[in-house]
Amino acid sequence: MEHTPERPLRVAILISGRGSNMQALAQAVAAEALPVDICTVVSNRADAAGLAWARGQGLPAVALAHRDYPSREAFDAALQAHLDALAPDYILLAGFMRVLGADFVQHFAGRIINIHPSLLPAFPGLHTHQQALAQGVQWHGCTVHFITPVLDHGPIIAQGVVPVRHDDTPDALAARLLPMEHQVFVQTLRWLAQGRVRLLADGRVRVADAPQRAWLGATFFES
Ligand code: GRF
Repeated sequence: MEHTPERPLRVAILISGRGSNMQALAQAVAAEALPVDICTVVSNRADAAGLAWARGQGLPAVALAHRDYPSREAFDAALQAHLDALAPDYILLAGFMRVLGADFVQHFAGRIINIHPSLLPAFPGLHTHQQALAQGVQWHGCTVHFITPVLDHGPIIAQGVVPVRHDDTPDALAARLLPMEHQVFVQTLRWLAQGRVRLLADGRVRVADAPQRAWLGATFFES
């Protein structure tokens, strides 16, 4: 379904820290007048810088600190209740560093989308830039994907690719990748608002009229 200003796409954005991906999404919504209603920003850390930014923008932002809950299940249940009350179409994990349990994922099946800083299925988990450098890959990237109960796994919506330099550090590589993450996540949000993203029965994703869904870093580095 194509969304309109009268019938906007409702999204919840989950963060844990800086929130630059959330900022890119919120800024695109404002700058491009996308038919998107960011119905909540949730951080599992009360001191997340992104939370303060969101509040400053007048976005409905709440801290739901996982430390305040006795178990993973209890935290997931509280998060689920908060989200259910708002009925988002999609839940966007934008640097949300908390593993969500299978029940939660099942409850929102096909509606949770994550950005991961590697070209999945390579390098799931943490320290992806370090993993990429250790393997000597020449291209690194990010993946926007639907989540499944398996961590950093699931139907791929879009990917962005950047070159790796021989003298890269994890920080340098992360800094090169970040603008690409923003670009790919924002494009995904546009597609969602246009109602073009379809999860196929075979577990892959089709985006109507987007035969190619990979972005290549503009700069080529010679060794
Ligand atoms: C991003 O690299 C994201 O892919 C990863 O954590 C980082 C979060 O950055 N999962 P930010 O909070 O969006 O600035």
